[in-house]
Amino acid sequence: MRAPKGTSDLLPDQQSDRERVAHAAQRILEGAGYRRIETPTFEATELFARGVGESTDIVQKEMFTFDDGGGRSMTLRPEGTAPVCRAYMEHGMHKLAQPVKLWYLSSFYRAEKPQAGRFRQFWQVGAEAIGSDDPAVDAESIVLLQTLLDDLGSEGVRLRLGSLGTAETRERYREHLIAYLRANEEWLPKDVVDRIDLNPLRAFDSDEAAPVMEGAPKLLDELSPDDAEHFAEVRRLLDAVDLEYEIDPTLVRGLDYYTRTVFEFTSDALGAQSGVGGGGRYDGLVEMLGGKPTPGIGWAAGVERILLAAGERPTAEAPVDIFVAYAHPALRADAFQLVYDARREGMSAQMELAGRSLKGQRKQADRLRARWLVVLDDAVVLKSLETGQEITAPESVVARIRREDQL
Ligand code: HAM
Repeated sequence: MRAPKGTSDLLPDQQSDRERVAHAAQRILEGAGYRRIETPTFEATELFARGVGESTDIVQKEMFTFDDGGGRSMTLRPEGTAPVCRAYMEHGMHKLAQPVKLWYLSSFYRAEKPQAGRFRQFWQVGAEAIGSDDPAVDAESIVLLQTLLDDLGSEGVRLRLGSLGTAETRERYREHLIAYLRANEEWLPKDVVDRIDLNPLRAFDSDEAAPVMEGAPKLLDELSPDDAEHFAEVRRLLDAVDLEYEIDPTLVRGLDYYTRTVFEFTSDALGAQSGVGGGGRYDGLVEMLGGKPTPGIGWAAGVERILLAAGERPTAEAPVDIFVAYAHPALRADAFQLVYDARREGMSAQMELAGRSLKGQRKQADRLRARWLVVLDDAVVLKSLETGQEITAPESVVARIRREDQL
């Protein structure tokens, strides 16, 4: 039997990389006032249908949806923003000081066609700031993702930035774009034509439609004065910290909830799936989910892609303080007790568990790169595997190691 297509086991050697991402995210995000949240693995399907949007690929064909046994439709979370907004509403977080800043590191599920860097179960680290429309929140959010990617050594990272305006701006623009697409229908691929009314903006995502889209009206040129000022301020703040970005007037993200600022980080170190992380503002999402109008902004980055973009790293084995070897089975209980005492003292300790000869046990201690080897025989011998020093019959092995370590 194998793991299902598009999923993979995370083996012990891969854990230290994962932990590096988790520690960096915690340090960087909590240092900026974000607090960790974990929402359930599955939610009511309606949350994503409403939140992510009926016309998106995610909702149309990528959700793992099932009946919960009681006739209710549930879906394995394909993304984290809608669930975090649901939690914000459910727990009355609007009563807290705004914006409420939350981060997560969780697994997500999309029934996509698996390929390099694209999985059906993957991990995202994400950050959401809900309750403020200040452009400084946008700039701070973007800078934090850049800081995280830098910290983790992602290579060839580029930032693209755009603005989609408010819902009203988009509606007006949508009509202009639909008119343009209809007028050029004969040069567009069928899947784009089929979605002209449903989601005309997605035409910018199609490589085949690219020649036609070059001449299409651009949303950035049609922003309202408020939206344009908001976008200008975001850029001013990014400029103030010398963060490099490219303005991309065709940046469309695959989720419907975005308003105003949108951004995407790509890495040249990745293949076709070059998006390392992305996000944007979603000022209408909480209301769409039945709450009061509440602005919000955030991003998510794929953990597997961050690691791919950072290249191979040697895995560091956890150090072992003590390995306890024993000469014959009658000493097993003594070895067991010694390991127990050492662990209670906060040391990492292992004992022989596979019936090896004393010589085999010494080799095993070397293999584990133990700092101390304790051999229980007629006498108790403590040996430093770092210096070769041997100490015979110490009164308490654990106390003696503590003392030696302090010297
Ligand atoms: P997204 O762009 O759909 O945004 O996903 C964010 C990141 O998750 C991508 O840039 C990519 O690194 C990773 N990712 C997505 N799908 C897969 C996959 N099938 N396999 C591996 N990695 C993948 C969102 O999910 C939004 N919720 C981001 C956001 C937060 N916007 C506002 N707040």
